[in-house]
Amino acid sequence: MKKTLLIPVLLSVGLCAGSAAAQLTDMEKLGRHLYQDKNLSFNSSQSCATCHHRSAGFADPTNRRDPYHVMVSLGDDGISKGGRNAPTAAYCNFSPILHRNEDGEWTGGMFWDGRASGWSDNLADPLAEQAQGPPLNPVEMNMPDVETIVLRVEAANYAPLFIKQFGADAFADPDLAFDNIARAVAVYEGSSELSAFTSRFDNGMLTEQEASGLALFRANCTGCHSMEPVEGVVGPLFTNFTYVNIGVPVNEALLEDSGSVYEVPDLGLGGFLGDSAENGKFKVPTLRNVARTAPYSHNGYFPTLTSIVSFHNSRDVADWPEPEVAENLSTAVGNLGLSDQDISDIVAFLKTLSD
Ligand code: HEC
Ligand code: HEC
Repeated sequence: MKKTLLIPVLLSVGLCAGSAAAQLTDMEKLGRHLYQDKNLSFNSSQSCATCHHRSAGFADPTNRRDPYHVMVSLGDDGISKGGRNAPTAAYCNFSPILHRNEDGEWTGGMFWDGRASGWSDNLADPLAEQAQGPPLNPVEMNMPDVETIVLRVEAANYAPLFIKQFGADAFADPDLAFDNIARAVAVYEGSSELSAFTSRFDNGMLTEQEASGLALFRANCTGCHSMEPVEGVVGPLFTNFTYVNIGVPVNEALLEDSGSVYEVPDLGLGGFLGDSAENGKFKVPTLRNVARTAPYSHNGYFPTLTSIVSFHNSRDVADWPEPEVAENLSTAVGNLGLSDQDISDIVAFLKTLSD
């Protein structure tokens, strides 16, 4: 197969992406203000973008810079750290309300463990429910209560935009205002600025090695990182939004970090549902922009793409540490029989998924 790098096509795509970003709706613009507002954290030290920044594929850039040592995000107090690796906030809006699919597998929701389920009456949207988590989370944005968050938005220079969207008495009822803050953030997260579909893969320009990686990926990975077209969505999302225990080991380095709230075993979906049949299962992540979101997996055990792909390949046949949770282990990965060359082809393919 010939290498097919079509420069003119690349140029025109660049232009489209630029103009798409410029054409945000008013609600998307409001959401972007909120997403980037550091005043939504107690010490005004961090916004959503601090831990979900474009430069890191909308995951945490401090982790990306040093994935061997910095696996979780630092909170607003400058001391506390989370117990899970920040996933990308892009392409999340396609995750449905948490439900059992036709095979009885839990599907959808937000967070590694699905706890932003979309089951609330007021929001009924996993992404909007998720957006209400970080501001009140003591190891993240650390705000004391809903009232304080709403007061900060009311004092912001973009408050008129909020009133334009939600009416003159938009700040009268703090709970309602907090719901609308979350809705606006979720609308922004669903915009073309985060879910751009402008990767080299989307433009169909793969080198010979990347194309070989794609073929291997289709054969070994799409059972979970799905490439099935989804109705109304431009391209594949590389996740079927189910939950699987692939047997990620305990992250000893994180355990030794006294600032982190990481406790083992992290039961994932099973912990949220209180159902031991789901213990150790974590949401199948999208692989879009994955080359920019190191480290990898829920506890950041894997610093590189090569290491996590190798783990999927040889969990059961090479010298890996014990899984963090040994129950409910998936046998769809662990002994895939890929060669070192196959793994580097797959990694080359994964690198084409960056917008
Ligand atoms: C201090 C860092 C930090 C801040 C600030 C932060 N997040 Fe996160 N975010 C995380 C971590 C860590 C997780 C994973 C937590 C988990 O799964 O339990 C996460 C998970 C998410 C997810 C779920 C993605 C998925 O695939 O399930 C979304 C979406 C998200 N954050 C958006 C936001 C928004 C919106 C804000 C601002 C309101 C925000 N985050 C603020 C660290 C942060
Ligand atoms: C049986 C389902 C399944 C299959 C098959 C599968 N994966 Fe995964 N993959 C997962 C789950 C679940 C996670 C997250 C696990 C965790 O954090 O505990 C994951 C994580 C990843 C990550 C890390 C993403 C991130 O943001 O942290 C990469 C990269 C990845 N898989 C690539 C692959 C490749 C390449 C293949 C094929 C060789 C593959 N996967 C096959 C379920 C699967």
